[in-house]
Amino acid sequence: MIEISDVTVKYGGVVALDHVSLKITDDVVGLIGPNGAGKTTLTNAFSGFAPVTSGAIVVNDTNLFDLPAHERARWGLARSFQKVQIVPDLTVQDHLKAVMDSKGISKSQRPDVISKVLDFVGISDIRLKLGAELNPYQRRMTEIAKCLIGSPRIVLLDEPGGGLSEAEMQHLRKVIRGIHPEFGAQILMVDHDVDLIRDVCASTAVLDFGKLIAFGPTEDVLADEIVKTAYLGR
Ligand SMILES: Nc1ncnc2c1ncn2[C@@H]1O[C@H](COP(=O)(O)OP(=O)(O)OP(=O)(O)O)[C@@H](O)[C@H]1O
Ligand SMILES: [Mg+2]
Repeated sequence: MIEISDVTVKYGGVVALDHVSLKITDDVVGLIGPNGAGKTTLTNAFSGFAPVTSGAIVVNDTNLFDLPAHERARWGLARSFQKVQIVPDLTVQDHLKAVMDSKGISKSQRPDVISKVLDFVGISDIRLKLGAELNPYQRRMTEIAKCLIGSPRIVLLDEPGGGLSEAEMQHLRKVIRGIHPEFGAQILMVDHDVDLIRDVCASTAVLDFGKLIAFGPTEDVLADEIVKTAYLGR
């Protein structure tokens, strides 16, 4: 369980998150809201990249805010970014090796770890391709593969569906649904694609101007009049 309590983030005069509290128990949880609502800021609060002024994010008795940002990855927090972080002159495999370095995974385990995560996301055939040669879908899958290294406890996905075709989205859905059964991590997923959210998220939270305006089973949340007005109707 992830317990977010009273989290506030301010950027100068902008209150990006305003006393947000929610308890996340489902395996895959959605986070939606209009542009600028605070979704990426919440993922940044998890990973230590947002100026948090109050609150806590507690997972299994650990308050993430008590850990320095660099220790959160080792603890088991993984994330993919809204702007994909791929290095042009590194291969797919090199990207994974860099993560394994940071997690202290031994040389002898590495080939198995690489095979497992690449097979899981379905890109084993391109492990030696350079970042510069990857299409948007392959870049996205490389990012997700990076997240799955080293027994993640929480995987944050920021707009994993951005810029993908319908066929690629079908594959993405399968990948996201498979993460918890295969790797055991809880997933918090930001996306604007309501069909994707409906398909893979058991529950969904809605932010608007930094405030939590709804949280519950995804179908109920998407049918909520306040949510429709704040988000879906726009
Ligand atoms: N580094 C920053 N410096 C200043 N303001 C910021 C910073 N990051 C976010 N903000 C502001 O905080 C608010 C929330 O931004 P955030 O990026 O979390 O929104 P979002 O819900 O992820 O939006 P989008 O759907 O466009 O990705 C916005 O008003 C934004 O301008
Ligand atoms: Mg964002």
